Amino acid sequence: MSGSKLSAQSWSSQTVFILAAVGSAVGLGNIWKFPYITGEYGGGAFVLVYLLCVFLIGLPIMLSEIALGRAGKANPVRTMAKLAKESNSSKAWALVGFNSVMAGLLILSFYSVIAGLVIAYFFYSLFGSFSGISGEVAKQMFADSVANPWALLFWFSLALGLTLLIVARGIKNGLEKAVNFMMPALFIVLMILLVYAIFSGSFGESFAFIFAPDFSKLTWTGVLIALGQAFFTLSVGLGAMMAYGAYLDDKASIVKAGLWIVGLDTLVALLAGLVIFAIVFQQGLSPAEGPGLLFTTLPIAFGQMPGGWLFGSLFFALVIMAAISSTISLVEPSVAWMDQRFSIARSKSIWILGAIAWLLGVGALLSFNYWQDLKLLGSRNFFDSLDFLTTSIMLPVGGLFISIFMAWIIKPEIRGEQLGSSEFWMSVFLVTLRYITPFGIIVVFAYNLDERIASWLMAAVAIGYLGFVIQKKVSEQS
Ligand code: PHE
Repeated sequence: MSGSKLSAQSWSSQTVFILAAVGSAVGLGNIWKFPYITGEYGGGAFVLVYLLCVFLIGLPIMLSEIALGRAGKANPVRTMAKLAKESNSSKAWALVGFNSVMAGLLILSFYSVIAGLVIAYFFYSLFGSFSGISGEVAKQMFADSVANPWALLFWFSLALGLTLLIVARGIKNGLEKAVNFMMPALFIVLMILLVYAIFSGSFGESFAFIFAPDFSKLTWTGVLIALGQAFFTLSVGLGAMMAYGAYLDDKASIVKAGLWIVGLDTLVALLAGLVIFAIVFQQGLSPAEGPGLLFTTLPIAFGQMPGGWLFGSLFFALVIMAAISSTISLVEPSVAWMDQRFSIARSKSIWILGAIAWLLGVGALLSFNYWQDLKLLGSRNFFDSLDFLTTSIMLPVGGLFISIFMAWIIKPEIRGEQLGSSEFWMSVFLVTLRYITPFGIIVVFAYNLDERIASWLMAAVAIGYLGFVIQKKVSEQS
């Protein structure tokens, strides 16, 4: 389908939309990233900040994005331009949409590298490579896997290719079919692992690590990482939910859907963390293992379980699916945009977008070997730079503008029509979106950027926002 209308596509039901959105939200962010950053930033206190960010910042933006998407019924760029026009505001709001198209491609690149690694681990498990391995061997296995750029390239290209294949098939034949089966299955396997962890791991220690806050371990960098993670894990700030919302039926309840998505996403992250740290402590490994954490802990568990090769293969197969149901939502905004803006059909645009993501991904995978010492943003390697640029900057900034737009710019009628809540809940929502969400984002940035100019810049933004709020309030009254 090409041309200017997206309306030929829609989700079959509200449940399918929720599944697809949960599919986008639940992914490597929950199973791979959440545990390893929780380990690196000290556990409990970090988790607490993360949960606050999820509910006070992530949830309101999630609701806003779905609402904007459904109101605009177009790709994120056009949706923003259109709604801004209807609300008598500047066309420049379309830039928020551009941010989303760009961030989607950037994330897709490094994300697919890890997804590829998961595919490799699926085969390791299938061929029994985990049987009886120790922590040391598991660590070596991970080190060997990332040291070989050609193998990484192969697995990465496979992951990216799978994603593009599904997106090319469109909403009903591609996206829906994929998520319908994958999400419930993932949940069941997580439950099996949880039972294993309760009986064979150091479960008490793991529980304490995640839920007992030790604030002496919390740093401002940790707070920024927690904020970035809240955006990343919920897939908000970049218009993925906006793109999905465009295909949502007008009768579906956005609030209900949003609560389900956020609730399930949080549950999966916490469960994955509990399972992984139970194995970490039982094996005497370090929780601050970095990106290799998932790949060094679970193989040990699978290597010891009876029938572990089967559970292991099953588990990694499901992580692949969780990852792919996320990557497809990273491509959707740009595919929809190319379709409407340049009339390039899905089947063609995925080649162009795929090529861009592939090139970036090659850079990302070389960071584990040849380009190990190449430093870009603030002495980060290429992989970490992509991650930092998107997760810590583009998503929060995108989220900031989305919340400002929803809170102040959009016509109140459109807002009410989409969210349709009682007056009480609408005002709770608005107060959060107006005062807590933006300030949360601004403050975290200001404290984190320790170079003086950056702090001044953020202070200026905060003051600017305050001025804007006052001016809005005054004009509302008159
Ligand atoms: N939410 C996904 C995860 O946790 C990643 C993602 C981010 C997907 C942004 C789409 C958009 O793995």
